[in-house]
Amino acid sequence: MGPGPSDVHPRVLAAMGRPTIGHLDPAFVAMMDEMKDMLRYAFRTRNDLTIPVSGPGSVGMESCFVNLVEPGDKVIVCQNGAFGGRMKENVERCGGNAAMVLDGWGRPVDVQKVADALKANPGTKAVAFVHAETSTGVQSDAAAICGLARDHGAFSIVDCVTSLGGTPVLVDEWGADAVYSGSQKCLSCMPGISPLTISAGAADAIRKRNRKAQSWFMDLNLVMGYWGQGSARVYHHTAPINALYALHEALVMLEEEGLENAWARHAKMHAALRAGAEAMGLSFIVDAASRLPQLNAIAVPEGVDEAAVRRALLQRYDLEIGAGLGELAGKVWRVGLMGQSATVEHVTMFLSAMEDILSEQGAAIATGAALPAARAALAG
Ligand SMILES: Cc1ncc(COP(=O)(O)O)c(C=O)c1O
Repeated sequence: MGPGPSDVHPRVLAAMGRPTIGHLDPAFVAMMDEMKDMLRYAFRTRNDLTIPVSGPGSVGMESCFVNLVEPGDKVIVCQNGAFGGRMKENVERCGGNAAMVLDGWGRPVDVQKVADALKANPGTKAVAFVHAETSTGVQSDAAAICGLARDHGAFSIVDCVTSLGGTPVLVDEWGADAVYSGSQKCLSCMPGISPLTISAGAADAIRKRNRKAQSWFMDLNLVMGYWGQGSARVYHHTAPINALYALHEALVMLEEEGLENAWARHAKMHAALRAGAEAMGLSFIVDAASRLPQLNAIAVPEGVDEAAVRRALLQRYDLEIGAGLGELAGKVWRVGLMGQSATVEHVTMFLSAMEDILSEQGAAIATGAALPAARAALAG
């Protein structure tokens, strides 16, 4: 129950153990096509260029920047936590200039500040932001930010690593241009694959670049030769066959459950966890209106040793939660309710284990109230 990886279903683990076939085997190529369709379903898009990138979420992130940002390009980067900072690094490493829109950790991106930054920076090539900030558990208004970018002729680059499969990611409705995710969060696959989707307009810009992308491995013009349309596939790199079996199975499971049902399950489990935690006397650092259900940043009560609590959870209950990052180190716990980790069993185990450990530490919490509150929220 940390900020990812989430629990992986035995079906997905079993899929990974299937015999390894060639990455140009017709059966594998057919599976690749199915996977592209299932990713379009998960991303709510019809984008042709929708693929799983061979590498973790960071490779998906970097693929967007190295393909869309050329030296001298101006990019507005919104930072309200740890991962926006990485976007700035990416822009600068591509030779671009990052104009920063800064918001406090735990606050969503301020849409008005993005509008002001676009006015102050004519000719901006792209606006980059994190939809679901895993470092704080906050969700930003992707529709509004992508809309502003589009109105100013800029592309949008959106990090949906933590949102895909857990909360609505509506790529076509938002009009987003370059969106990447990760396999290990709400898709509940093992880490190491990054689903990516690129709009027709952005794909066109990538095809018409003035100079080649500085990364050979992430150059989407080359990667598409392997993942492209029809049966003609050109070797680019050896695909991580067994990891892709696993992602395929995770996507089949998402389709079986239904995307809307998966979103509803995450929301329901968050409601139960919140009811239980608040009944115990714990509080959340993010306002309810912009809180992510799948990443719960809970304030560490006064006088409680946060690391000792995590250690006891792991040793006594075999339960892992995350520590705070950056500005929030030592101040919050990050509790994931992602994919297969968003179940009633996870919520009740977390609440009872927390109650046990916090009372042992002498924290001023109410005992005996959390589980009934969670049960009432689940019934509601
Ligand atoms: C919002 C966000 N972006 C990017 C990443 C990087 O993903 P990975 O660790 O798979 O490279 C993460 C990982 O936690 C993340 O939460």
